[in-house]
Amino acid sequence: MTLRLDDLATRRSVPNMQLEAPGPDEETLKRILAVATRVPDHGKLVPFRFVTITGDAGARLGEAMASHHAALEPDVASGILEKDRLRFTFAPLIITVIGRQVEHAKVPKVEQVLSAGCVAFQLLQAAQAEGFRGCWLTGWAAYDRTVMDWFGLEENENIIGFIHLGTPKINVPERDRPDAMSLVSAFDVSRLPGAV
Ligand SMILES: Cc1cc2nc3c(=O)[nH]c(=O)nc-3n(C[C@H](O)[C@H](O)[C@H](O)COP(=O)(O)O)c2cc1C
Repeated sequence: MTLRLDDLATRRSVPNMQLEAPGPDEETLKRILAVATRVPDHGKLVPFRFVTITGDAGARLGEAMASHHAALEPDVASGILEKDRLRFTFAPLIITVIGRQVEHAKVPKVEQVLSAGCVAFQLLQAAQAEGFRGCWLTGWAAYDRTVMDWFGLEENENIIGFIHLGTPKINVPERDRPDAMSLVSAFDVSRLPGAV
């Protein structure tokens, strides 16, 4: 099958609250992951891995996050804690993309993070190609050391994002996109040393 630009041009996020079952089944998930891990990866370091959240785990994680948030910030609004509680309960499948950076003579850590970021985006593309929708979320919890420990992260690992996947409940309206050509300029050789 040929990948058409039109297919890529229609990608858009669906908020996690607007996702419901069904999500990808085991076989579909395998295909999605196979595509998602086919990313540019300087030095073949494979600087990413995944932790899936399904079923009851989402509600339990949310409860733990809300309690942890309340302990960190005693004055936090109850509405925010409710968001923490529910965040992982909507999408039937959440794939946590974990990045891992190592010291390497030729591959700076930022390139390893970028590879993992490509994986996160490619998960969304592949899921859409399989008929699902989703979104890439982080939030405070992605950067909190205690939460990282719950995910079993090593010191050189980080949460690149939570990819929420499922079936959309609504038709999400298009949002404004940048005018791509307004972002482009040609390399200006007059800035080069010795140029006239
Ligand atoms: C690394 C990363 C983290 C993000 N985290 C959040 C988030 O926590 N909450 C949120 O509302 N959007 C977040 N977004 C933005 C959404 O994923 C999404 O891009 C946005 O809703 C626009 O939808 P679009 O993908 O159709 O352009 C994040 C995007 C990236 C790249």
